Amino acid sequence: MKALVLSGGSGTRLRPFSHSMPKQLIPIANKPVLEHVLENIRDLGVTEVGIIVGDWAPEIADVVGDGSRLGIRVTYIPQEAPLGLAHCVTLARPFLGDDDFVMYLGDNMLPEGVREVAESFRTRQPAAEVVVHRVPDPRAFGVAELGPDGTVERLVEKPREPRSDLALIGVYFFTPAIHEAVAAIEPSARGELEITDAIQWLVTRGAEVRATEYRGYWKDTGQAGDVLECNQTLLAGLTPGVLGSVDDASLLDGRVRIEPGARVTRSRIDGPAVIGAGTVIEDCHIGPDTSIGAGCVLRNTRVRDSIVMDGAEISGVPGLRYSLIGRNAVVGTGPTGDACHSLVVGDHTRIEVAA
Ligand code: DAU
Repeated sequence: MKALVLSGGSGTRLRPFSHSMPKQLIPIANKPVLEHVLENIRDLGVTEVGIIVGDWAPEIADVVGDGSRLGIRVTYIPQEAPLGLAHCVTLARPFLGDDDFVMYLGDNMLPEGVREVAESFRTRQPAAEVVVHRVPDPRAFGVAELGPDGTVERLVEKPREPRSDLALIGVYFFTPAIHEAVAAIEPSARGELEITDAIQWLVTRGAEVRATEYRGYWKDTGQAGDVLECNQTLLAGLTPGVLGSVDDASLLDGRVRIEPGARVTRSRIDGPAVIGAGTVIEDCHIGPDTSIGAGCVLRNTRVRDSIVMDGAEISGVPGLRYSLIGRNAVVGTGPTGDACHSLVVGDHTRIEVAA
């Protein structure tokens, strides 16, 4: 079996980050979403991985490389514009050949993995097997209607009036039968070749399409709030350890990981929290539920429930919460005087100051 990971697209909902990095590279517990995805794929025993890439191809290749660091072999497949999930399958045909494959959306986090679904697909060999998850409001997703034995009877992309609460959650197992289906469908109202329509095409022609319910934690990391929630969930399973240095005047409480070369001085860190490699923390109170990336400098600052990305500098800020601080961002105090803020703010940024 091969894997096809979809990492193109524009990701405008994650602005301002989508101006400077693809959403698939947003760090969750200090590891890019895409790396979590690729590790899940490797855990299925799949090592041949095609990655669909758009405008962010160089940034993605910088992080993933040839995949050897992650124990996989990566082939990059460029897509000029995000023309749909089924379009990605068409582009990948030369890479996929006539192999079965798992298609995985590069912005979806399923930390518990999909081994059970892969097993079910391998033993039963339906034409396709989708992964579904019960959600309170499925209108933003592909929605599946199932028969009593778990076969898919109908699939609709983002229905206004969903007829079930089972959302498709970004992992699909396919036999080569899908290639005829993607060639047969037309673009949807939003102008995309929808994989949902291709699978429905198989269902309509009497092919066996199955669905397995994933009951673990799942997040489509499309928006800032989702990213923070997902970070909190993954940090709960963090492997604690002190690989950097912590002075005697500091206190670590709970599940805390200090990466190599990080230096913690006169600070308190409440787990779950991770401090990235080479980061300097002085006179701070960090955590819980906080990831600080690599090469950051934080002084005299209180941060909780947040993600601070690589190279950021924060000083003299008494309270940061539910914050996403981008790479190499600088947050600090200045000479503007009492109760005045001086901001250099990029496009589509959101700032909420304490009243
Ligand atoms: O998150 C699950 C949902 O993903 C499913 O319930 C829907 O049925 C499915 O259509 C998809 O919906 P979205 O509208 O959320 O897909 P999005 O445009 O966010 O794209 C998902 C991933 O695929 C993302 O990592 C970007 C990548 N992509 C997307 C398109 C349209 C590509 O690589 N190329 C593309 O042409």
